[in-house]
Amino acid sequence: MMQLKKFQDYTALSTAAAAMIIECVRKKPGALLCFATGDTPRLTYQLVAEIAKKEEVDFGNCFFIGLDEWLGIPPDNTGSCHHFLHQYLFIPLGIHPSQFQLFDGLTTNEDGECERMNRLIEKKGNIDFMVAGVGMNGHIGFNEPGTDMNSMAHVAVLDETTRHVGKKYFQDEVPISKGITLGLKQVLQAETLLMLANGLKKAPVIKRTLEEEISNSFPASLIQQHKNGILMIDTEAASELETAQK
Ligand code: GLP
Repeated sequence: MMQLKKFQDYTALSTAAAAMIIECVRKKPGALLCFATGDTPRLTYQLVAEIAKKEEVDFGNCFFIGLDEWLGIPPDNTGSCHHFLHQYLFIPLGIHPSQFQLFDGLTTNEDGECERMNRLIEKKGNIDFMVAGVGMNGHIGFNEPGTDMNSMAHVAVLDETTRHVGKKYFQDEVPISKGITLGLKQVLQAETLLMLANGLKKAPVIKRTLEEEISNSFPASLIQQHKNGILMIDTEAASELETAQK
């Protein structure tokens, strides 16, 4: 069953999340990792890089697989998932290009790109540790509300909320209408699924995640069924929960 962990603030949550990631890699140096991008996990990754350096935790045998990417956005655009992962993880941790495989947002062969990622996961075995965020509409990666629970990597037409919220990542106005993402099946099959949410704006999202019926119409709620699911939230994100949950 999923565990719910509550923290005083964003720093405490990020510290705990970073500690879990470090522990995973210490236990399994060759772990297959899949990390979300976005504002939520930023501090977690900065702390991971700091701890890895200070305590000499070796990420040299890990492999990183991309969770999602904006279609049509070049990797050097600062709003791309590509750029984020390089900035906060790959460069600080000294990850070699042979240690990651990300979705190509500029692909002209969408099906082929999805197949490539599906085959890679199949070959490497299960994802050991996934860090997920949650979108304002309950999405995980770009698995928008209503996505099939058995979905594999696919291209998603982004809904209104995601397109609107997504603007925050980009310096210039760019068309963001589609995303490419691992599917819910792959997300839910991860050995450990760590989901993070912080801040007041995520309070209604967390309320729906935990108090609505578990269903793919609000994908984040599916974490409740994950045998090794951990949902870390801060006081603000917990603020709309029923008192019993708070
Ligand atoms: C984005 C990404 C997700 C991310 C989520 C939450 O659109 N596709 O992978 O987890 O939305 O983002 P944030 O952490 O910025 O709230």
